[in-house]
Parts: sequence; structure tokens; C-alpha cells
Amino acid sequence: MPSLLELVRHHTDLDDADVAWLQLLQADWQIIADLSFADLVLWLPDRGGSGFWAGAQMRPTTGPTAYVDDVVGTFVPRGRRPMLDEAYTRGRLVREGDPEWRDDVPVRVETIPVRRAGRVIAVVARNTNLLGVRTPSRLELSYLQTAADLTRMIAQGHFPEEGQRSDHADSPRVGDGFLRVDAAGRVVYASPNALSVYRRLGLSGDLAGLSLAELTRELVPPRRRPDEETLSAVLGGRVHRDTEIGTDGVSLIVRSIPLRPNGEHAGALVLVRDVTDLRRRDRELVTKDATIREIHHRVKNNLQTVAALLRLQARRMDSESARLALEEAVRRVGTIAIVHETLSQAGEEHVDFDEIADRLGRMVTEVSAVGDRVRVSRDGEFGVLPSEVATALAMVLTEVLQNAVQHGYDPADEESSGSIVVRVRRLVGRLHLSVDDDGRGLPPGFDLDGSTNLGLSIVRTLVESELGGQLELGAAPGGRGTRAAIDVPLD
Ligand SMILES: Nc1ncnc2c1ncn2[C@@H]1O[C@H](COP(=O)(O)OP(=O)(O)O)[C@@H](O)[C@H]1O
Ligand SMILES: [Mg+2]
Repeated sequence: MPSLLELVRHHTDLDDADVAWLQLLQADWQIIADLSFADLVLWLPDRGGSGFWAGAQMRPTTGPTAYVDDVVGTFVPRGRRPMLDEAYTRGRLVREGDPEWRDDVPVRVETIPVRRAGRVIAVVARNTNLLGVRTPSRLELSYLQTAADLTRMIAQGHFPEEGQRSDHADSPRVGDGFLRVDAAGRVVYASPNALSVYRRLGLSGDLAGLSLAELTRELVPPRRRPDEETLSAVLGGRVHRDTEIGTDGVSLIVRSIPLRPNGEHAGALVLVRDVTDLRRRDRELVTKDATIREIHHRVKNNLQTVAALLRLQARRMDSESARLALEEAVRRVGTIAIVHETLSQAGEEHVDFDEIADRLGRMVTEVSAVGDRVRVSRDGEFGVLPSEVATALAMVLTEVLQNAVQHGYDPADEESSGSIVVRVRRLVGRLHLSVDDDGRGLPPGFDLDGSTNLGLSIVRTLVESELGGQLELGAAPGGRGTRAAIDVPLD
């Protein structure tokens, strides 16, 4: 489905300010669809003047739709829907007595010119499925009357209001709680849901006739409400804005839309939404994040303790091979600790792996016998990886780097120096990694499948079983040294 912006660019002469206006209208028109129990379609005038394009559509959440199919992107030539033409050219609201019949459904259509800076820039068609219309109750009458005020404001260029955008996810809907206040800020009508919300705040009687700002000041402790000015402006219905208030047990968002159907302030539509559960979940998420971070931190500390114990034990070994084996174990545990340290700082189950890879590169050369005669560099970026992948990949990378440093170069040969390149590419759904050294190369007749040493066994198990990827070990393409190539899927 084409976007509003695309349709405007392709088919109309509207300018950027017009588009901004229409987008602002779109941000708020769910409210109008709900209050009218009607589908809204935004019709854009064609550049050549030959008709209208449907630029956007909104269904009501309070009643049945009049459009089963999407209409966005369709074209209506002039003359076919005279109500569109009339609203556009005459700049006035058009309403017809007789319903249109669409697939056996009677639909009442009204058209509303959208005015900006004195010009009509588009038309909103309001389509009410009359099968859904019940005997009007007070709630329905209040909704419809408010919808009528808002549509009149659209036609006069008083709605939307510039600089006001509040289509964020928490924004209250009509069904959450609807109040109508008069010009003095006193409640004229409150929907049952709005009344329940205020009951939860501590109200015992009825809302009708009360000043919403005063009442809220009584029920809400000062630290849980906005400053005096905001409070009286929003709850008094004088500014188009959201604000959040509450008690210790209850949180709510209040949203006010001032109404000026005749150009003068005539009160406001106030929507209220109980967001207590939402806020509690926000707080729980924050503590969950902190807990996860703390756990990673402790795991890292414990791993460092294990590494220290192994190191102590290694020093006491008489057998050289046993000592070397323990030192390898120290290094492996240290690698996992690095990943957990990074996770404890990120506070998420994802890590930026580039920092880890570079740290591992430094760690491997620092402790090696060839020391600063061998340099590790990185080409490409790992980016962000999930923690499970990160732990396994860190182990793999350490072993492969360790082998390059340890077997590629001769520590006894003072002239022996080299460079190891970690090359990484992130492809769609995959990560490709190669580690090339320019050392002496694999021993003659080397066979990866036949190799039983621990390092490469760990690498193979992690790559193939844990990460579900592939490992290859062979001569580096430069004619010198060894390449380890690893390919792992990422989803
Ligand atoms: N980059 C490399 N350059 C030369 N030889 C290598 C390289 N990587 C692995 N090898 C060979 O593969 C063998 C097995 O490696 P590995 O399983 O890690 O055990 P270890 O490192 O303990 O010997 C090494 O002993 C070495 O002969
Ligand atoms: Mg090894």
C-alpha cells in the first residue's frame, strides 16, 4: 500500500507544509473515527484537477466498518462522487439525507473540507455503517456531538493544532475514558470508563458538574502531578496536550483537546487512560535489566576467581605439560569472563562484539612468546550479536588466534614477525569470519578431521554443534601461512 507521502508526491501539488498538516491530522483522527463510529478516508486532490486519490483511511474501533477493503491508493474521477467535489470546491461540510448502499450495507457519507492557511487542501469523507447505529444513548450523543465539533474545526482550519503530536503508544483512546468539559473546565459528561478511572483515583461521588482541574488537585498528591500551570491548562481543557498524573497506586494519562467549533473556546474533549499496569511493567523491566546485568557481573567475578585458582595450581605443577594445560584452561576461562564483563555493561542480551574481538586479539599476543613481533588486526565489523553466539564465538576466535600466534611463528627466531588478520563479513542471515596468518603454515599432511588436540576439538564442536556453522582450515590464499574460515548462521 502506498504511503500518504508517496501519493502526495506522485499525484498532487500539495507542498511540505500541507503534508505536515495532513500528517498531524492523521495522528489524531482515530479519535474522530471512534467518536463518529465511522470510517474516515482522506481524499487528495489530483494535480490535474481530474479527481481525488484516497491518501489514508481509518476504521473506527467503536463500531462496524463501512469499508471491508482498503481504499488507499484508489482514484475517483470528478463527477463520480459529487459530495467530494462539493466539499472541495465550496469549502463546506456536505451531508446527504439518503444513505449510499454498498454491498447491502447502508452507509451514510459526509464530506469535510480540510482547510489550512485559508485554503482547502484535501477532503475527509466520513462513512458511517448504519447497520451498526443503535438508539443513541447519552454516551453516543456526547461522542457524536464532539465529533461534529472536531469536524467543524477541520473545515475551519482550527484542527489539527500545529506543534501537537501525541500519537505515541500510551496515548489514550476514546474507549479508555471520555470526558467533555465546558468552557469553564467543568465536566458536562463523563463516560462510564472515565468515571471508573476517577473512582480508582479516589473519587466517591459523580463527576458531572465538577471542575476537573480542582478535583484532580484534591485527589492527586503534588509530587505525582505536573506544575500548577500545566495542570490547570490541560485538565481545564485549554491546551492540546498530554500529561501524566496519579496516586501511589494508580497512574493515568490525561489528554485534552480544546474545542472551538465556532472559533471561540467552547470547552474540551478530555481522554483519560489508566496506565497503572503499563507503568508497573515498565518498572519491572527496568529491574529485570538491572538484575541481568548484576548476574553477568557476578558470573564474570566467579570466572575470574576460577582462573586465579587454576593459575595458582599451574605454578605448583612439576610437570611442564600439566602446567601448560592448566595455563590454557586459565586462558579459556578468561575468554568467557570477557564476554560476561561486556554483557554486564550492556544490560541487554546482545553485545557489540568488535570490542570483544579486539580485546581477545590483544590478550593472545600479550601472553605469547613472540609478543609484540606479531600484530593482530581486524578488517570488517562483527556488530551486535546475541549473547549465546557471542560466548561461543569468543571461544572459537581465541583458539584460532592462539594457534596462529603459537604455531605460526618461531619464538626462538628473533627475525620472525608477522601479521594476523581477522576478516569479518556480515551477510544476510550469516556471519563469515576468516583468520589469516602469514606464518609457517600447517604441518605437512595435516588433517582437520584427524586432529585430536583439544584446541581444534573445542573449535569444531562450538562451530558445528553450538553455532550450527562450518569450519575450514587450510593454507592462506597469499601462499604463506594458514587460514581458518568460519561461517555461522545468524537469525
Ligand atoms: N595457524 C596455524 N599455523 C600452523 N599450525 C597450526 C595452526 N593452527 C593449527 N595448527 C596445527 O594444528 C594443531 C592442532 O591445534 P590445536 O587443536 O589447537 O592444538 P594445540 O594448539 O594444543 O596444539 C597444532 O598443533 C598445529 O600443528
Ligand atoms: Mg591450540
